[in-house]
Order: sequence, then structure tokens, then C-alpha cells
Amino acid sequence: MSAARAARVDALAAAFRREFGRPPEGVSEAPGRVNLIGEHVDYNDGLVLPFAIDRSVLCAWALRDDTTVRAYSAEFSECSTFDLHDISHAAPGAWENYIRGVVAALRAAGHAFGGVDLALTGDVPPGAGLSSSAAVEVAVAGALRDAFGLPLSGPDLALLCQRAENAFVGVQSGIMDQFASALSHRDAALLVDCRTLAHRDVPLRLAGAGLAVVITDSGVRRELLSSAYNDRRRECAEAVARLRDALRRPQLASLRDVSLDEVASRTGRRALADDSNDTPLRRARHVVSEIARVAAAAEALDRDDFAALGRLMVESHLSLRDDYAVSTPELDLLVALATAQPYVAGSRLTGAGFGGCTVSVLQADAAASFARDVVAPYEARTGHQAATYLTSPQDGLRTWRLP
Ligand code: GLA
Repeated sequence: MSAARAARVDALAAAFRREFGRPPEGVSEAPGRVNLIGEHVDYNDGLVLPFAIDRSVLCAWALRDDTTVRAYSAEFSECSTFDLHDISHAAPGAWENYIRGVVAALRAAGHAFGGVDLALTGDVPPGAGLSSSAAVEVAVAGALRDAFGLPLSGPDLALLCQRAENAFVGVQSGIMDQFASALSHRDAALLVDCRTLAHRDVPLRLAGAGLAVVITDSGVRRELLSSAYNDRRRECAEAVARLRDALRRPQLASLRDVSLDEVASRTGRRALADDSNDTPLRRARHVVSEIARVAAAAEALDRDDFAALGRLMVESHLSLRDDYAVSTPELDLLVALATAQPYVAGSRLTGAGFGGCTVSVLQADAAASFARDVVAPYEARTGHQAATYLTSPQDGLRTWRLP
């Protein structure tokens, strides 16, 4: 264990002892994620290319001999207590729902386990689009898997955490975040086919090319993110239904089954747009073109072609801005400032959008220039405070027994 991680685990173990009067038996760690490319396509059976970042949630645990679960959050200095047989929802938006949701999903899946004490701490910025919630879910599921020896593969654990989020938190999110948090590996992005759940590591040889990834938090958070997100899902389902009829393809199950030519064909356009409304056309065009961009980006990375990756990232951003309508003026400004710099290969919004962060690939020695050329003018023009994180791909979920 690295010294920095050991220090975080020691601090969490001390908090656990203070709260519960005994030491923890084990600890899990699940990272947040950044998505390089492949946005709003996971729930359309598409391809995504995220990686786990060096910010994470730690969850320490110790078994109990009853059916009570106690979960302590070091950040909130609060403890949530419930019985395994009676798992109610906490207030909407409360951190506890992620934990209750995972425990409920494990039980619904038929896993047998007893009471447990948990203590959590994390440094993934919440609400920034870096999947702090998936990190909580995966850390809790990983802790419970270890504590009770549950037979749960990595993909099953990720799916279960997604169900927890869908059912308990009410966001109809796809599988990308939980998959990235559970299954990523160091120095690689994770290419996931969200239809089959087939996945493979795509090596990210950034350092060899003198490059780095920087995440820039616009400092803007949108209220009602979940309802805007669920709206996009509905709009995609509507586009699928119309294309299924118009193309006379009853088997057409998702936008993954459609080509860009079909969307742009006379039949496709007639089905998806009329004089007053072309929203379904634009949503479909984003999804179908984005899936193709992810495939191209993975191929580009296989040959270390970061210039091609950068171009695809910029195309992705424009498509998210113009067709999918999930960008904000602030994210657009960050991307425009970044892509104007000769040392930036590519930049785009990352995550659900509606605020949150951009991800940029830039020369590794240009961090100070980026602060001067991108962050400073952004803050001066918008009045928002931006935060930047230099990051590199890390391992997904890991667990340890404590001595
Ligand atoms: C959120 C969701 C993911 C994915 C992205 C957009 O992060 O949780 O499932 O849909 O938005 O790509």
C-alpha cells in the first residue's frame, strides 16, 4: 500500500474506532472516473472509454452479530442506522441512499449476509461529474463482498450498484460509472461495450508521449440534473420507436442498431424531424456518431495516435453541445480556451454535462501554461472558480484485510 493510501486508511480506522469503539477488519477503495469519450451512449447500448482517477472512496468494515447496518460518513460526521429487513429510503439526495441502495440491491439479488458496521471517507468532488456516487456504491459493495465472502464477479458487482442507483437514488443512469470504478486498471482506459458488457483495457501510454490528462471543474452545478438526464433517456427511446417503424425493422432495439447513414437518410429524417421539432433527429445523430467516435478513439489509442484522439474529443464536445444539448456556456468556454492552445491535443465536457467538468489531453509540462491561458481567463470572464486535477489512470476497486 502506498504511503498516501496508508495514511488515509489509518485516519479512517481511527474514525471507525471513535465511532464504533472497535477496530475495522478490512477496507475497500473504489475510485471516481473520468470519461475520455463516449458520452450519453451507455444507456443506448453504445461504447464508452472511461478510466478510474486517483480520487476515491474508502470503506472500512467490521462484522456484527445481528442484522443492523451502521454506516458512518467521515465527511458528514453522521451515522446512518437501519435493519437489513427494513431498508427505507432516506431523504431524497441524502448520502445514505447510496449505501441503503447497495444493501437493498444485494438482498434483492438473493445474497445472504448479516449486520455490519461501515465507515466511509472520500475525496472525489461531489456533483462534479466524476462519479463520486458510483465510488460510494462500489466501495460499499466491495466491502460487503469481502466481509461476507459473497460470490459476486466484478461486472455483477457493477450492475448491482447501477440497480442501487436506479432504484434508490432515482437517476436512470447507465452502467459506465460503476463499471469504470469497479473494473479499471492502471495506465489504461476501459473500453466497455454496454450492450454485451464485453470490456478490454486500452493502454493509455500518455507519459511516453509526453502527455497528461487534466480535469477542469467549471465550478457550476445544475439543479435538477437527474430530471434533465432522465429526459434525454426518454428522447432516445422516442427516437428508437420512430426509427423502428420508419425503417420497418421490428428487431431494432436501440440506437446501437442504427447507422449514421440511416439517421441521415430521407426516411430517417422524416421519421425524426418535422418543421417544428428536430429534437429526436439531433439526439439520435449524437448517439450514433458518438458510438463511432469511441471505436475510432480506441483504435487511435492502440497506435498511440493522440492527435486523432484529440480531434475526436473535440468533435464529441461539439456534438454534445449542438445535438445533445447537455453543455453549458461555461463548459463551452473552457473547451474553447483549451483547444486554442497549441499544447492541448483535445478537450471536451465529461460525464453527464449540465455543468461539472471538462477533460483535456495536454503536454505534460504545460500545466502552468494551462492555468494561465485557460483557467485564469475562464475565472475572469465567468466569475466562477475553477479547480484543476492532473490525473492518470488507476486501478478500480481494491480491498484489503486489516491486521
Ligand atoms: C452519468 C451516468 C452515466 C452516463 C453519463 C453520460 O455519469 O451515470 O451512466 O450516462 O452520465 O455519459
